[in-house]
Amino acid sequence: MNKILIIGSGSIGERHLRCFQKTGRAIVTGCDANEQLLATIAQTYGVATATDWKLALDRDRFDAAVICTPAHLHVPMAVELLQRGLHVLIEKPLSQSMAGVRELIATHQSSGRQVAVAYTLHAYPILSAVREFLQSGALGPVLHATCTSGQNFPSGRPAHTAHYSKTYYRDRKTGGGAIQDALTHMANWFESVLGPTDSVMCDCAHQALPEVTVEDTVNLSARHGNALVNYTLNQFQAPNEATLQLNTATGSVKVELHNRRWGVLWLGEKDWTWTEVPALDRDAPYLEQANRFLDLIEGQPSRLCSLQAAAQTLRFNLAALASADSGARVHCAQFLV
Ligand SMILES: NC(=O)c1ccc[n+]([C@@H]2O[C@H](COP(=O)([O-])OP(=O)(O)OC[C@H]3O[C@@H](n4cnc5c(N)ncnc54)[C@H](O)[C@@H]3O)[C@@H](O)[C@H]2O)c1
Repeated sequence: MNKILIIGSGSIGERHLRCFQKTGRAIVTGCDANEQLLATIAQTYGVATATDWKLALDRDRFDAAVICTPAHLHVPMAVELLQRGLHVLIEKPLSQSMAGVRELIATHQSSGRQVAVAYTLHAYPILSAVREFLQSGALGPVLHATCTSGQNFPSGRPAHTAHYSKTYYRDRKTGGGAIQDALTHMANWFESVLGPTDSVMCDCAHQALPEVTVEDTVNLSARHGNALVNYTLNQFQAPNEATLQLNTATGSVKVELHNRRWGVLWLGEKDWTWTEVPALDRDAPYLEQANRFLDLIEGQPSRLCSLQAAAQTLRFNLAALASADSGARVHCAQFLV
């Protein structure tokens, strides 16, 4: 059994804790600075708890930690955990600035330990099938893609966790706003298919979510090599939906995540040929992610987002924010790792 410390047991930390427990391959300890929250976690899941992650590491031996705190804490925590000999799964986004990222990569390389970043879309079987199909080359290179997604962010949070306006989400400096919180998932998945984003032009605004002023709505036009990608996303709309379409000169692939299906339409055909996938409960991708992380630390090849890929998506986030603020096209390369 692997001993796993969950650092930050708020909304996503609790889900990780539950899913690592469900693997049957891990003994989990919950850690959070909020004692009241921790009492609920201890009672609900029957796990050991700690309010201070450094003291927990002094007291006990852990194989790995999952960092589920706000983004500005991810990099320093990951560096110290690696130095203490743990494997680390880091929540997205990797950070909200490039500070310390180079040191983290160097520490990882010399540590002999594993690092993955919890861009959960890597653990969606439907998206892995689409990536494999596109990368088989059958349809030729993707030239143009669109990604339209949205959901009501507040209604996705468990009632006993902090109101979203009191969390990291309220401030870009702690990883808040739609770009760093939500669009980053989509950008990371597209980068896993098309390669790194070169440049972005971004428009965003706060349109609707009460009690915050950060952007909840984004339109972004990106270049990934030869491919042009348009992303549009908001975090207030009623339907929880995501539709992705990737077009080549010989055909198109469409993914409707909310309808659990993906399809292909070759040039000249009238109708899409759909592949349906089974309905998953909300924990399923996180359970899959937990199993993949345990596989990784037990010596299997990684099937999760790497540290380097997450650092690239961090550059995407920073370029998007800079473009929205300046009104100009911004190249990701200006953010040096
Ligand atoms: N992959 C996903 O699907 C997904 C979903 C939601 C959130 N996230 C990411 O996870 C991170 C956390 O988000 P959340 O919604 O769970 O936030 P949250 O505010 O609900 O939980 C964060 C918790 O961290 C605790 N914390 C802060 N500093 C700490 C410290 N030094 N030691 C111990 N505990 C500490 C807080 O008390 C809080 O309970 C963010 O980076 C967010 O972007 C990812």
